[in-house]
Amino acid sequence: MAAPVPTGIPVSVHWHRAALGTDEALRRHLADDLTPLPGADLRIGHLCPRCGGSDHGRPWARAGERTIAVSAARAGGYLVTAAGLPPVPRIGVDIERADAAPIDPTLVLHRDESGQDVLQVWVAKEAILKMLGVGLSVPMPSIRVADFSVHDLPAPAGLLARVCVNSPPRRQCDLVEPGVEEVAQRPSADLLCQ
Ligand SMILES: CC(C)(COP(=O)(O)OP(=O)(O)OC[C@H]1O[C@@H](n2cnc3c(N)ncnc32)[C@H](O)[C@@H]1OP(=O)(O)O)[C@@H](O)C(=O)NCCC(=O)NCCS
Repeated sequence: MAAPVPTGIPVSVHWHRAALGTDEALRRHLADDLTPLPGADLRIGHLCPRCGGSDHGRPWARAGERTIAVSAARAGGYLVTAAGLPPVPRIGVDIERADAAPIDPTLVLHRDESGQDVLQVWVAKEAILKMLGVGLSVPMPSIRVADFSVHDLPAPAGLLARVCVNSPPRRQCDLVEPGVEEVAQRPSADLLCQ
């Protein structure tokens, strides 16, 4: 099922049953969305930024010579796939059940985010950390949602969904990880559709 996403970001989102594997879900998603590239050789895989393994970690996709930013998340019986259509170079998506167990705010909120809804921030930060490719190895309190380009997504009842597309921090954040500087350098005008 394709879902509309907020205008202004070149992102497409598809919802699948959770039992469908990520690779197959991305294959179906991109086969639908890449019709302008008929016959393009579609390749999908994973690459773990920690160990270099190709059977887990960050998903990737290529159609012919073109790299397509992709991300995936599972919760509440759903698997969501998000694809960043050119020129989005990186994307992260997360979904969580709205009735998820309470999370300790000190594990999630930056000092500037006190009082914010912990679950909403969690979903945003997982999307950010997937966009960066670093996963939960980076402590959530070390980043601020406001420093990234995060968007709410329409979701099935009972789920929260957010997507993050590559965008430079509006302010310098505390996060210092390999690759983050490179992400932060890119001009936002290159990343967001008008
Ligand atoms: C990425 C992560 C935040 C996902 O959180 P989660 O709540 O467990 O699972 P979600 O349903 O939200 O997302 C799972 C999807 O995230 C994606 N993912 C996994 N690692 C990722 C990474 N480093 N960057 C971006 N996306 C990643 C995958 O597509 C995965 O689904 P798949 O394996 O079926 O393809 C978390 O698993 C994590 O931090 N992983 C990294 C752990 C690590 O570095 N391990 C080292 C192993 S050598």
